[in-house]
Amino acid sequence: PNLSPSETSNNVEKSLLDLPKARFWEATDICQWEGFWFEPSLVKPAMTFRSTFHAQNDDVLLASSMKTGTTWLKSLSLCIMQKDHQKHAFDILTSENPHFHVPTIESTIYSTKPLQVNYYDASSPHLMHTHLPYAVIPDSIKSSGCKIVYIARNPKDTLISMWHYFNIILRPNQEPFPLNKTVDCFCSGVHQYGSFFDHVLEYWLESKKSPKKILFLKYEEMKSDPKREVMKIAEFLGKPFENEGEVDEVLWRCSLERLKNLEVNKNGSVLLNVPNSAFFRKGVVGDWKNYLTPEMEEKINQTSRSKLEAFGLFL
Ligand code: A3P
Repeated sequence: PNLSPSETSNNVEKSLLDLPKARFWEATDICQWEGFWFEPSLVKPAMTFRSTFHAQNDDVLLASSMKTGTTWLKSLSLCIMQKDHQKHAFDILTSENPHFHVPTIESTIYSTKPLQVNYYDASSPHLMHTHLPYAVIPDSIKSSGCKIVYIARNPKDTLISMWHYFNIILRPNQEPFPLNKTVDCFCSGVHQYGSFFDHVLEYWLESKKSPKKILFLKYEEMKSDPKREVMKIAEFLGKPFENEGEVDEVLWRCSLERLKNLEVNKNGSVLLNVPNSAFFRKGVVGDWKNYLTPEMEEKINQTSRSKLEAFGLFL
């Protein structure tokens, strides 16, 4: 039978109540939907996105698990997409945090500012982002010409980055959450958008099947050869650079040091309860060595090996 919008909404509410639940860091509830863990209030927006979004051929979807370099990828893609309009002028990243300009679709319910883009408006191309796993992104994104750029990062640095981030957000004025428990929950996949390993694997396999559709980036490669990687992104998005000066300009505009010190990122907030400054920390490869014990390291390595290496993915 055809259901009215309110009946559909009631059904969604009921199905949300039945989802498996868990506590994250003894601080907040998360629930399991389609095999992954989410903050409960994000599931409904994710369902709506999946069932109603119609992608256009020139849309671009950025995708990532948490703390893998999303902010950097958003900044770079924004500059690349806008570079023809920006030749001499206005530097968009000084006006607002990258998460304002390229919102994470399912989290827009937490935006502190009115969005300038209507994602359901079919009249203009969209540059958008999601943390959702590949399995639940809208079919129209998969079947249209919409391109996807995914960024992955090594699990140990991702975990340490996540540990700092959620200690700021969920445990202000408290002791940091014990690191050994953080490792356990990361390895069992019971964390926001987890399992991290399943998340990267899904996009990795899809990118192998459809390399023209999905560009799979690694944070570490972007750090070690930023020019090559940013040129790769620009080519992939159909906006190749005209000269090396342009590449340098974009890399400088998006550098951690610069973004971190912009007024808007030192003091502003785009997401409720999250200061913009929380998105910028060290940006160093291998920072995990300052935190993890050999046992913790081995546990993550083992999980990573067993989940990813058989598929040729080494993070
Ligand atoms: P660290 O916590 O290891 O420093 P996300 O953007 O997905 O939330 O990931 C955050 C991580 O990316 C943080 O890592 C942060 O410092 C780093 N980061 C943020 N902006 C960056 C930039 N412009 N260049 C490189 N790394 C950046």
